[in-house]
Amino acid sequence: MPGRAACLETALAAEPAPYQRGTIVAIAMTFSSPVQHALDHVCETHYTLQSDGSKLPQTSAPEIIATMLDLLQVAPGQRVLEIGTGSGYSTALLSHLVGDTGHVTSIDIDADLIHRAEQRLRADGYTNVTLHPGDGATSAVDRPLDRIIAWASLEHIPDAWARQAVPGAIMVTPVFVTELAKTFLVVRVHRGEHDRALTADRFLQAGFVEASSYVLDQWIVPPRRVDALTHRADGRPWWLSAPWLRSGGGDNGRELLHQLQTVGRQATGPLGDQDDAADFYAYLLATRPDGLTTAALGEPLWRIGASTPAGIALITPRQAHHQLAAGDHSATELLTTWARQWRDQGKPGLDRMRAVLRHGRDGWTVRPALTMDRPACRSRPTG
Ligand SMILES: C[S@@+](CC[C@H](N)C(=O)[O-])C[C@H]1O[C@@H](n2cnc3c(N)ncnc32)[C@H](O)[C@@H]1O
Repeated sequence: MPGRAACLETALAAEPAPYQRGTIVAIAMTFSSPVQHALDHVCETHYTLQSDGSKLPQTSAPEIIATMLDLLQVAPGQRVLEIGTGSGYSTALLSHLVGDTGHVTSIDIDADLIHRAEQRLRADGYTNVTLHPGDGATSAVDRPLDRIIAWASLEHIPDAWARQAVPGAIMVTPVFVTELAKTFLVVRVHRGEHDRALTADRFLQAGFVEASSYVLDQWIVPPRRVDALTHRADGRPWWLSAPWLRSGGGDNGRELLHQLQTVGRQATGPLGDQDDAADFYAYLLATRPDGLTTAALGEPLWRIGASTPAGIALITPRQAHHQLAAGDHSATELLTTWARQWRDQGKPGLDRMRAVLRHGRDGWTVRPALTMDRPACRSRPTG
């Protein structure tokens, strides 16, 4: 493979991208030797650093990229479609993994990013990559695909992917698993050997920006499924996503946000020190998809919880020893009940879930479901 651009010393001082790293809840720490080899040979900062030394916001954490590339099981000679070129770092890793006999097609909705990544990939000598501006959920590629990977969360797995994938192809993508903002999981999906049916065998929790059919200029308010939005005096947006707000409850939502801002109270959360908040979150995704509330209060950190017309209680998906609550105690009691039911069922987490795929109008929806089976493997939470 071609020679690599030298890594910049300034990389050591670079700040993490603002909306990615804080959201990791389960990643691998060691990688297969092809992925490790690619990591060793591609200079991350050549792609991710901007001219002022800051990190490009559209950059995923290298540990998440490597974990997902391991799930993808890329081999030399394969044809790969990547959705969400971003910095181009993952594109370079994929290019390295498929080698001179393979090919990577990479698509990003942002034409400026495509141009930027193209310059860096060319400077690094990669010739087995084609970049296109466009919407990766609908774009067609002029070659059959062995592997597909996305770095932005999709509503469902598009039919276009299943049509272009060869029998046995593997796809790895973040995908929404409820109708609530921010509730997605990374899933690994296989196309059947004899038909276009898809099956899934792995989940991973990691944070991503939502896929969008236009270029986003901020990442704090999700582009879809926000049911109540207010702005604080300092201009920061606070939002709520909850199914019950969709039937005319928008005013209720804004009132709950107002209460959180003015009389929100910190309280003991529903979990204790021995409990894993990431497992509780996975359980809620599988068992309470219509009862949950998601929210962000003016910061990239987002929260989950319960809400009713009279009250709201929020924890974070990584930390449930504390909660922020407002109004009466109805929502706090709901969260406490859910936590008791989770404990009664043996505290199941992602390792006790299977993915249920259903074919709909434009693609395959993915929903986690609890299983009593033991998992084949488990991703370790990193704390
Ligand atoms: C997390 S960044 C990609 C990270 C990148 N692969 C890296 O190497 O770090 C997500 C990217 O997805 C892009 N994106 C969002 N919606 C998209 C869509 N519908 N089609 C293609 N790209 C999309 C965004 O513009 C953004 O660059």
